Amino acid sequence: MTKIDDILSSLASRRGALGIAGGLAVSAAAVAGARTVLSQPVPARTTPASPGSAPVTGPIPYGASVSSDDLPKDPDYQRALIRYCQQVVPEYGLKWSSIRPASGKFDWGPADAVIDFAKVNRLGVRGHTLVWYEAMPDWAKKISTAAEAERELVTHIETVVSRYKGVIKSWDVVNEPLGEKAISASQLRSSVWSNLLGERYLEIAFRTAARVDPDCQLVLNEYGIETTIPQDRGKRTAFRDLIRRLKDKGVPIHGIGIQGHINAERAIDTEGLASLVGEITSMKMATLVTELDMIDNKLPGPVEVRDALTAAKTYELLDTITRVTRPSAIITWGITDKRTWVPMWNKRDDGRPNRPLPLDADYRPKPMWSVIEYFSRGRA
Ligand code: XIL
Repeated sequence: MTKIDDILSSLASRRGALGIAGGLAVSAAAVAGARTVLSQPVPARTTPASPGSAPVTGPIPYGASVSSDDLPKDPDYQRALIRYCQQVVPEYGLKWSSIRPASGKFDWGPADAVIDFAKVNRLGVRGHTLVWYEAMPDWAKKISTAAEAERELVTHIETVVSRYKGVIKSWDVVNEPLGEKAISASQLRSSVWSNLLGERYLEIAFRTAARVDPDCQLVLNEYGIETTIPQDRGKRTAFRDLIRRLKDKGVPIHGIGIQGHINAERAIDTEGLASLVGEITSMKMATLVTELDMIDNKLPGPVEVRDALTAAKTYELLDTITRVTRPSAIITWGITDKRTWVPMWNKRDDGRPNRPLPLDADYRPKPMWSVIEYFSRGRA
């Protein structure tokens, strides 16, 4: 038995043994599932693909967000992305703060660094994001009339979507539309866009993107909708209502992004999430996991225990979703623990580094990777 398997079996039988206060917020079924995945022989992997070779294909394409600052400097990073990913997402290069230094100006450099890498290595690209309340440059924060807001929004989307037409085949058109504590669809997140245009900004954004690239998958992306905490339950209901309302108006939304930034000590709301995914599917839209990571600051310190728990929790999330539908993508927010946004807000009190991602800081696959690979291959 491997150490991880030992830990998982002890989680399955003697939950108290690891001294995790308040019990473990992961189901016995998920622990058992992760154990099965991890006890399967690891499928033979080919040597890392060299630039220009075909990507590994799988029934659910896996991908990761990519830092354009680090990419050119780190060959190990490049190799890991080529080896494990079928697609990549510029982590910040397409956000307004990066791409829009001034009204009427576009800086394509950081986004192109990632997108050119993807092209050379025949990886797909997702776009993140055309509209967000965050990461706005100062000049755009000063937009003060509805007419100006609409003009800037439309010009931005026309310019950016048309530049990457045929390359970016799936866009997070609007990111995080709802207020943090929203319990109804009308509680939109305060932003230049919602404050000046109201709910209409979502409609404008999706309709403009669809007009410019009718073949692109247009996605509405949200977080804080996955677990059993009351805030997530409320926001999940609000999100479902917002989606329904927009679809009823004929807004061209083709996919719903469930970000999947999971506070790993919380329980996945398997019923609530499955029901949301069921509704998305019944509205004829795709479901995507767009920003998966396991926020591990509240988990026990020992690395093996943490890795076992994050693997089991990843299993629980992906199992819940894939029992209802086959998501059109599984994306993690970063690929290696070496570079992750998690410590920006969720540093551990014990000073140990966070381990939220599928590869460790030395690019070695963790148990979380085995779980992702299992689902990405279609539970083969
Ligand atoms: C984060 C990036 O990872 C950081 O590098 C950046 O400084 C701030 O934004 N939800 C999102 C992402 O939709 O855009 C955020 O990305 C993480 C939370």
